[in-house]
Amino acid sequence: MNNSSYQIIETSDGSSTIFVNDLDEHYHSTHGAIQEAKHVFLKNGLERKSHLNEISIFEVGFGTGLNAFLTSISSSTTTIKYDSLELFPLNMELIESLNYASLFNIDEQKMFLELHKAEWDNSILITPNFQLKKINQSIFDHNFLINHYDIIYFDAFGPRAQPEMWAINVFEKMYSTLKNGGFLVTYCAKGQVKRDLKAVGFDVVSLPGPPGKREMTQAWKV
Ligand SMILES: C[S@@+](CC[C@H](N)C(=O)[O-])C[C@H]1O[C@@H](n2cnc3c(N)ncnc32)[C@H](O)[C@@H]1O
Repeated sequence: MNNSSYQIIETSDGSSTIFVNDLDEHYHSTHGAIQEAKHVFLKNGLERKSHLNEISIFEVGFGTGLNAFLTSISSSTTTIKYDSLELFPLNMELIESLNYASLFNIDEQKMFLELHKAEWDNSILITPNFQLKKINQSIFDHNFLINHYDIIYFDAFGPRAQPEMWAINVFEKMYSTLKNGGFLVTYCAKGQVKRDLKAVGFDVVSLPGPPGKREMTQAWKV
């Protein structure tokens, strides 16, 4: 997609997101991009594994890097290994038009840019306890490690825009790449998605969503 397909807009908490014209879909909730990321992926994601010394995370959709950024600045003691899959990396011009870094302190601003400048398809130590591997590949081509991750941040575009990302064959891959006791977390609470996650073997938990959304979903491999 070229830049004319994308429009930067401001969400209700003052943080930006991107609207994709071709998909008629936003990268984040218009009720607050940062608020949503913190609620779904940090509070109901990362924090559920904060007792571990090392946490391995797989993200579906690196996109603006917002989830990776918030995760990287959230912890100073736990070691995080963060693998993030992205088929359509955004260009730097667009990234620099987002206001995330400006809402944080100077060190955190540098961190945001470092995550974006990090080479693709290589594990890069961004800080002593945050290792990032951005993988430029489709979820349908990626060779998933088995029983490897503690958490999956499932942050694909919604089922209306990209139904193929929410299909049983994808959920089977997610299940097998998680460790026993690991879980997938997503903003989506659609009934069919929850039924399909259950069909694959997940224990599905519905939780209150971020502002503007009634529910969100955790799916545990037990
Ligand atoms: C909701 S957006 C990502 C949001 C991102 N986590 C963020 O905070 O900006 C979904 C992402 O999935 C990516 N994507 C779409 N199809 C994909 C595919 N087949 N494989 C991997 N990534 C894909 C899109 O390019 C987009 O960046």
